[in-house]
Amino acid sequence: MPGSRILGSGSALPSRVVTNAEMTTMVDTSDEWIVERTGIRQRYIAGDDETTSSLAVDAARSALKDAGLEPADIDLIVLATATPDNTFPATATKVQHALGCHGGIAFDVAAVCSGFLYAITTADSLLKTGMARRALVIGAETFSRILDWEDRTTCVLFGDGAGAVVLEAPDRSTSVENGGPGIIASRLHADGAQHDLLYVDGGPSTTQTVGHLRMRGPEVFKHAVVNLSSVLHEVIENSGISADDIDWIVPHQANKRILDATARKLKIAPERIIVTVDQHANTSAASVPLAFDTARKDGRIKSGDLVMFEAMGGGFTWGATLLRM
Ligand code: COA
Repeated sequence: MPGSRILGSGSALPSRVVTNAEMTTMVDTSDEWIVERTGIRQRYIAGDDETTSSLAVDAARSALKDAGLEPADIDLIVLATATPDNTFPATATKVQHALGCHGGIAFDVAAVCSGFLYAITTADSLLKTGMARRALVIGAETFSRILDWEDRTTCVLFGDGAGAVVLEAPDRSTSVENGGPGIIASRLHADGAQHDLLYVDGGPSTTQTVGHLRMRGPEVFKHAVVNLSSVLHEVIENSGISADDIDWIVPHQANKRILDATARKLKIAPERIIVTVDQHANTSAASVPLAFDTARKDGRIKSGDLVMFEAMGGGFTWGATLLRM
């Protein structure tokens, strides 16, 4: 069955840039350490007037404009976030109201850094059933609000931002097998046994606080390379294409060394990997759509290209989606 196709994309970043040099005034770190171990040079940090929903709305408006559509054309909003405005209701409903979309479906997806992969796969499935016609799939985060700003092993790694795509239900007159646009294959996974390697130490039903991000970085790193290589192989095999056919990999932007190691395992040329971690740091669920929008707007990703999204995050959760533009 052909999959849904992307009609447009957009993104939004907070106005404040925090460079590695500025991070050295907060914790015992250095530009050299951060660049060498992660590839990160700067991150964007939300101000008091910027929230997950405000970034999501800006990204969604930009995606609608890019697609040439109006809010009234949208009947499904799936928003991936681990940093919602409120515990409830879903931030997606706030975004729906701010955009002026009436009726339809709106909900959040919590799969942390692979949230956008979970969200786009869920939206694609709903569109295929005919439950909705056009979806906004958004990844939006304000991770700065859950960082322990005294923990140098985590606070240097993350940033805030949002990315969005407009997805349309499959057009049955074209087929992705014949080179038409659309999602070709997706795979999602989870392994709750790895909870303690990457989690937030708070929540409504445990501590009644928001909590802070905790991570055993080196262990997460090893799992990330193994899980991402494995799910990429799975999607490639499932879709009947060869890794050589892929024009662009748009990975979750956690660490440049993870991107390089995964590419080496798959024998994919580094120039085919979209890298924005240097500019945005790890923006969790926002990172894939932010990187995708960056590469579309600068002209690298074009109509007809074969594009692979991939991500891994807390849970663990991980997944990949292959699509033709
Ligand atoms: N500045 C300077 N030194 C730092 C530092 C910082 N910001 N953070 C840690 N260090 C120190 C450590 O204390 C350690 O010192 P020690 O050897 O004296 O104990 C040393 O640097 C090495 O730390 P280590 O954690 O082994 O480094 P690493 O090479 O594994 O890099 C990460 C750390 C976090 C960058 C890396 O493990 C990583 O990216 N992991 C995956 C993270 C990820 O992808 N998370 C999100 C998944 S969605």
